[in-house]
Amino acid sequence: MAQTGQEFNVDDKKLHEIVHEADNVVPRPTPKEFFEKQPHKSLQNFSDYEKLYRESIENPDKFFGEKAHEFLSWDHDFHKVQWGSFKDGEIAWFLGGKLNASYNCVDRFAFATPDKPAVIFEADDESESRILTFADLLREVSKVAGLLQSWGVKKGDIVAIYLPMTPEAIIAMLACVRLGAVHSCIFAGFSAGSIKERIIDADCKVVITCDEGKRGGRVTHSKEILNSALKECPDVEKVLVYKRTGNPEVEMVEGRDFWWQEEADQFPGYIPPVSVDSEDPLFILYTSGSTGAPKGVVHCTAGYLLGAALTTRYVFDLQPEDILFTAGDVGWITGHTYALYGPLSLGVPTIVFEGTPAYPDMGRFWKIIEKYKATHFYVAPTALRMLKKSGEAEIAKYDLSSLRTLGSVGEPIASEIWKWYDEKIGHKCCHIADTYWQTESGSHLIAPLAGAVPTKPGAATLPFFGIDAVIIDPTTGKVREGNDVEGVLGVRSPWPSMARTVYHCHQRFLNAYLRPYPGFYFTGDGAGRDHDGYYWIRGRVDDVVNVSGHRLSTGEIESVLLENKKVSESAVVGISDDLTGQAVIAAVQLKEPELITDDESLLALRKKLRLHVRKVIGPFAAPKTIIIVDDLPKTRSGKIIRRIIRKICSGEGDSIGDTSTMANPEVVAKLEAEVEQQFGVKN
Ligand code: WTA
Repeated sequence: MAQTGQEFNVDDKKLHEIVHEADNVVPRPTPKEFFEKQPHKSLQNFSDYEKLYRESIENPDKFFGEKAHEFLSWDHDFHKVQWGSFKDGEIAWFLGGKLNASYNCVDRFAFATPDKPAVIFEADDESESRILTFADLLREVSKVAGLLQSWGVKKGDIVAIYLPMTPEAIIAMLACVRLGAVHSCIFAGFSAGSIKERIIDADCKVVITCDEGKRGGRVTHSKEILNSALKECPDVEKVLVYKRTGNPEVEMVEGRDFWWQEEADQFPGYIPPVSVDSEDPLFILYTSGSTGAPKGVVHCTAGYLLGAALTTRYVFDLQPEDILFTAGDVGWITGHTYALYGPLSLGVPTIVFEGTPAYPDMGRFWKIIEKYKATHFYVAPTALRMLKKSGEAEIAKYDLSSLRTLGSVGEPIASEIWKWYDEKIGHKCCHIADTYWQTESGSHLIAPLAGAVPTKPGAATLPFFGIDAVIIDPTTGKVREGNDVEGVLGVRSPWPSMARTVYHCHQRFLNAYLRPYPGFYFTGDGAGRDHDGYYWIRGRVDDVVNVSGHRLSTGEIESVLLENKKVSESAVVGISDDLTGQAVIAAVQLKEPELITDDESLLALRKKLRLHVRKVIGPFAAPKTIIIVDDLPKTRSGKIIRRIIRKICSGEGDSIGDTSTMANPEVVAKLEAEVEQQFGVKN
């Protein structure tokens, strides 16, 4: 995965387009009108936020030092709050401290409140739902940790977890952490190619999975997919398989694969947690960047855990008596931080939902909220768009009055969806928290503190404690001070939960985040700060697309398309889509176009390419449309101009502008004709 050169390249024109479309002239609601809803339970009012925010920026050592003592249990106290800088490229927090994240999320509550629900499991098939108390969780985590230990797993080893959204995913993650081992979760929707790549990159010897999963009334073939990935992972020595469906046809390899239920029960219900250093890695999570190969983002124990706990408490205003329903997957960062580490580190029950919002009907989320009296609900706008379309009949059937805070994550939430969420789900009695953050940030970067920071539909509002957000002019690299400015979003100084590196490739970390604008962390997103100082996230300015909240690299999809021998060049772009936020469109050029001309062969080729992407990366990455062209738009130096493809596919061919610097301006008309034929877009 060696990486050379600059990873990031601001597409200035793209930023300009995004900014142009933006509308941020919304007045801030008066605090009185706002605070009458429900006040924040930990803060008095907006000036409390302002005061604490100022303290966190002016004296981060004092602020975070105190919070680290208040929120986390330490085996050994730290002697220095933070060290390093963006200029050095090295960052560390809570030096000298020792702790264990599983102790912090399980033991301390299992001792104090053993019978309190910790993981509320809502199964795809409702009748299989169950609740694990903190005492249950401690027992199950210990048993699996004991088993892993007997297999030789120890501090610093990386264990791959390929499990759907079930309590076992949480147990497996915490079992690794209990031993000081590092988990690397692989999203259950990934196919064999992506699994293999991640297992090999992190040199995992042990993998945890299940026989099959259940989702939306269908069975997913976890073990079968993993088996095919493992054919090319000779270093994997042991696989732990949770029997979820019990299908006898699932293939187990003797000596390598073991059943969870049979093995774990032989181990004691308590094993002591292993104390690790603050900066010891807690987990790796792969994410897409500008360039092809996914990056193994590394998060460290103390800083990450503190960020998770603090944002969950202050942004969501999550209190011990609450119940959080994060409808995200543990295969992504939202599931890590807000289905596991955030709520459990505060001793708050987390609802783990195995299914989909549409099964058995569009009322599933609302039914879950009513059933468990969830106080907090956290979801991506893509699900809200789908549920809004399906009408209000299903919502009206359920009592949603337990809700206090409604969160949104993963992509910009259009103001119309924000308002629908506020009115139809929150009945105007809940706080809406649009939370902006990333895999790399570990926890919320910009988000309102529910009940303390007034909101505006569509704005992520103001930065969280310790986040010194800046808007940078992408052309000059200078910070744009004051209000009413647009640019790319950066952060001026390190915060505890930020990623420390990219696994075994620190250069990639520097290239992607710290070198584009020296002295700042670069988020990859365009943003504006309005007249009130509120932040509006405009979307990625690089080659990352966001489909239904899944972060994808266009480069990664392009290289998979190139694996087909018939393809000579490929260009993948993201265009707006009503349902999925963005959709993947691929334009491919063939090596011998004269050999494939009739409609039937073209259709077959498109199908083959789409299937190949599904197989290698995962179903969610498959291009919605594939355009086959004789030639792709290029600069004179031979670089593909993706902006032109994006414009044409979005029906904005009229605004392509000057094509005189192109090497082949004649392709524009051809591309337009092809696009029109393919999906009826007329420019
Ligand atoms: C986008 C997901 C607008 C953004 C937590 C970011 C958002 C990328 C928001 C990270 C939001 C996330 N408003 N855009 N509230 N939240 N994004 O790593 O482009 O899967 O850089 O983390 O999602 O995606 P990731």
